[in-house]
Formats: sequence, structure tokens, C-alpha cells
Amino acid sequence: MKRVIGLDFGTTNSALAVAEPGGASTLASFESEEGEVSSTFRSILYFSAEERGADKRPLAVAGPDAIKRYLEADGKGRLIQSMKSHLSSRTFTQTNILGRYYTLDDLIAVIVRKLIEAATRQFGDLGTSVVVGRPVHFSGADDSDDDDFALGRLRAALEKAGFEQVTFEFEPVAAAYRYEQKLDHDELVLIGDFGGGTSDFSLIRLGPTAKQKPDKQSNILGNDGVGIAGDAFDSRIVMNVVAAKLGLGTHYNSMGKILPMPSWLYQRLGSWHHVSFLKESQTIGMLANIKSLSIEPEKIEALLHIIRNDLGYKLYRSVERTKVELSDRDISLFFFKDLPIEIKEKVRRLYFETWIEPEISKIEKCVNRLLESCSVTPRDVDSVFLTGGSAFVPAVRRIFRQKFGADRLRGGEELTTVARGLALRALEV
Ligand SMILES: Nc1ncnc2c1ncn2[C@@H]1O[C@H](COP(=O)(O)OP(=O)(O)OP(=O)(O)O)[C@@H](O)[C@H]1O
Ligand SMILES: [Mg+2]
Repeated sequence: MKRVIGLDFGTTNSALAVAEPGGASTLASFESEEGEVSSTFRSILYFSAEERGADKRPLAVAGPDAIKRYLEADGKGRLIQSMKSHLSSRTFTQTNILGRYYTLDDLIAVIVRKLIEAATRQFGDLGTSVVVGRPVHFSGADDSDDDDFALGRLRAALEKAGFEQVTFEFEPVAAAYRYEQKLDHDELVLIGDFGGGTSDFSLIRLGPTAKQKPDKQSNILGNDGVGIAGDAFDSRIVMNVVAAKLGLGTHYNSMGKILPMPSWLYQRLGSWHHVSFLKESQTIGMLANIKSLSIEPEKIEALLHIIRNDLGYKLYRSVERTKVELSDRDISLFFFKDLPIEIKEKVRRLYFETWIEPEISKIEKCVNRLLESCSVTPRDVDSVFLTGGSAFVPAVRRIFRQKFGADRLRGGEELTTVARGLALRALEV
């Protein structure tokens, strides 16, 4: 029987689904960090400082195993996350990890291979064709050249992992394929997919009539997106809760001049795709120097402690916990401990929403731009399907509730809609 596959390489989570003619789809299962079965796989890599592979390169571990190894290794080795957000960056050509050079597509290919390995154990040979999701605009891309550049690198990673025929589909269009399976009537639908790196939108006609059309592309009225999502919300928590404890806003005395701590250090600390790259001798040397001149050296020492011990992921966990709690509650106790650092602070949803207001506003502008470019008013839209992990953020949902009304909002399967939809799309390739 013909079996096709869809692969969602996400900034935070990846997933893979197979589909059969007729539209049944099955998600690949992975072992989670807690040893349970999960249909998502963390897009994260760990390079061991101690173990080397047959090629003498540091042993690379992906997903939940990467997290386990990282937590056991006490700051040794390197943990890299949110790699998808580097795809559009022309300055990220290669990186030195424990003495060996890796290109970005080398790194992404490690994750893709792990996804394929697990799925092959479950489904048997998967073949060499795949439909893969892509954001409408990659995180950090300024123009269509940057998007093409990012897509070229993603394709290179997939080919390195063994795929020969790669078809890309917009992530929100993929989500539409899945949503459409539940429709018994025609609708004009706004799809919103809010992930870790990007928020993407499609305005699309779905349902029995749209399905019959020979040219399904004509059902899509338009797509748009912004490189703002869960990681950007996390960054606001780092800047507002953590950074001051690590010296942001303090000063140092450089040859009689009182200078503020450079804020770019904290921006990087709060951007998950950059944090593990702070551990460079130049940055550490600069910080050690600043510390000796600082008016509050213990705070700079705390920052150095995080960088030297590669604690970015540990910090991420504390930040994410608070963000996720604030989706359900009005208050969360932010907690991070790695002695000598201990940060405990109550964070109110109200504050969090003030911090992320600029991001929410950019997301809203993107939705307005899409509607306008398609000459569609909110009243013309029959339903709004919100998916992706960041669709849980109340401030994100509020944009759509206010514009379209609560009764038109739909959701569900937040972390797997795109993968299933990609597999359904693959039935048409
Ligand atoms: N309950 C929740 N409340 C708030 N945020 C959440 C919640 N659950 C997950 N998230 C956030 O959702 C994001 C991950 O969502 P998802 O897996 O859809 O992204 P992704 O597909 O990996 O990213 P992208 O599509 O941008 O490449 C993370 O930022 C995570 O912190
Ligand atoms: Mg996604």
C-alpha cells in the first residue's frame, strides 16, 4: 500500500506522520524525557565532551537523550536548541563544537536522522520522499532572498539525512489539511500556527467543494507570517525577571568612565538559539575583565557562572515553566537555582502580558496585513483555527477572540496538527 510521510521540523518540537490513501494518518512515537511515549521529539542536540564517535567527532545525541546527557554532564559538552532560527542567518556558516567544525545543515541532519530512525522502527522503510513544513517567513529573514537561503539549507539537511525528493509546504497550509478532515461543509478559514520561532497564517477555503477542485492552490487566498513566537516571549521573561540579577542595569568603571553593562549579552542569554554560543573565550575574557571593574561584581560572576557552565537550557526550563503556568494561572513563581545563583520571583500574568505587548502587536499587524491583502474582512471569515504550542498563550488567543468572536475559534492537537497535515499533503505529491 502507498504510504507517504510528512515531517515537521520545528524550532522547539519536531514530529513525523505517515498517511495512507483515504486520509488515515499515524504519528511516529518517540520516547520522552520521562521515559513515556510521545508524538513529539525535542529539536535539541547535545555534544558530549567525553565520548567520540568512530569518526573521532564528539558524540552527538538528539532529543530527550540530549537533555538527559546534558543534565548529567554538569555543564560539560554543548547543548544547542532552536536551530531552525539560525537557518536564515548568513553569518552562521559553521560552528566549532569541541574542536570540530559543523555546518548548520550537519546539525539539523542529526535530528532528522533520529526522527527517521525512530519512525522506521515503527513503520518499516519510509522511502526517500517527504513533504516538509516551512514557515511563511523564516525567523530572522528580512526578505525573500533570506527565505530562499534558509530553505536551501533546510533542503541540504534533509538530503544529508537521506531524503531524495523533498517537497516543502507552508506550515499553516499543512495545518489546514488536518483541520479540513473535520469539516462537512465549506468554510473560509483563517489558520494561525504559533510555534517556538514563528507565527504563520493562511487564509484558505476548505471543505467538500474546495477538496474537489483540481487546482487546490486556488483555494489559498494568501499566506503571511512573522519571526515572533514562543522563544520571543521567553526572551521577555529573561530580560524582565533574570537579567537584572545577572548585572543588567549595573555599571563598571573603565579608566574613569562609568559604563553600563552591554545589553546585547542579555539579549543573547534570552535567545535560545544564541545562548550556547556565548561560551567563547573572547566573551568570557571580556566579562572577566568587566567583573574586575564592576560596581556589583557578584552579579557579573553570576552571569559568568551561567555562561561557563552552559546553563542556558536550565534557564530555559525555568522560563518556560513560568510561561506555561501563566497560560492557566494569574501568577507563577519563577524559580531558578544553580548555586551560587538562586532566583525566586512571583510573576503575574498581567506583567507578562505587558512585557510581550510589542510581540502581540506585531502578530496582530501581520493578521491585519493578510486580511487586507486578500480584501477579506473579519466578518467574511467562518472560522479561525489556532494551533502550535504558543496558541495556548491567552494574549495570543485574545487577538482572535476580539477580532472574530470566541464562537468562531477552533483548536486542538496543538503540537501535531502540522505533521499530520504534511502527511495528508504528501498524498497529493
Ligand atoms: N501551555 C503553553 N503555554 C504557553 N506556551 C506554550 C505552552 N505549551 C507550549 N508552549 C510553547 O510553544 C512553543 C512550541 O510550540 P510548537 O511545538 O508548536 O513549536 P515548533 O513547531 O517547534 O516551532 P516553529 O513552528 O516556530 O518552528 C514553545 O515556545 C513552548 O514554550
Ligand atoms: Mg511548528
